[in-house]
Amino acid sequence: MNFITVKNYEELSHIAAKIIASQIVVKPNTVLGLATGSSPVGAYKKLIEKCNAGDLDFSSVKTVNLDEYVGLDDENDQSYRYFMNDNLFDHINIDKANTYVPNGCADDFDKECEIYDNRVKAFGGIDLQLLGIGIDGHIGFNEPDEFFVGPTHVVDLDESTIKANSRFFESEDAVPRKAVTMGMMSIMQAKKVLLIANGAAKKEIVEKAFFGPITPLVPASILQLHPDLTVIYSEN
Ligand code: GLP
Repeated sequence: MNFITVKNYEELSHIAAKIIASQIVVKPNTVLGLATGSSPVGAYKKLIEKCNAGDLDFSSVKTVNLDEYVGLDDENDQSYRYFMNDNLFDHINIDKANTYVPNGCADDFDKECEIYDNRVKAFGGIDLQLLGIGIDGHIGFNEPDEFFVGPTHVVDLDESTIKANSRFFESEDAVPRKAVTMGMMSIMQAKKVLLIANGAAKKEIVEKAFFGPITPLVPASILQLHPDLTVIYSEN
């Protein structure tokens, strides 16, 4: 594991964007696994700048997002599809048809999850997976549990996640109680994994996840088994 401690969010975003941009430069048809939440926004801004300056070309890139809230459609401004369009896809030269986010309004979630995993397989897996980390150690929406779950699946969100994510909603009651998330299979099979975490509030969980025992009670701890993991942490 390559654990990088940086001085602030600006530096974290700069390094994360550099790693993602380098991946696209060396493999223009990269399959990127992408994340939502506040952590990647700074890196996305820098990627947009590079693209608009003509230094980065997303035209052959494919993206697969980690997760989506159950019950929110693409038009809902709290959906992760909306977030991705707003924070990245609308501002770069990517073909939106090559961007995938799980369907939170699927009629049949078993089928949706299977299609999602089969698509990742058909792409030959993810080249670089970007991750944030939840305060309870979740990655994507893989919440603490008795077991690690491999395939894409539907989860009940933990109270702590609902509380943490309520800052994006009108009230805690408005936060969906379920989500559909990529499981550990696609994440762990990614060729490279880049996890970014910032803020003093994440310090304890980052220590547990990367320097504590590997346990499904701290879902991100499974990443210690990944052969090409980079973690960037800023306390400020
Ligand atoms: C959400 C997402 C995660 C993300 C986490 C942390 O729950 N499902 O993928 O990593 O939030 O969010 P933030 O970066 O805002 O702390």
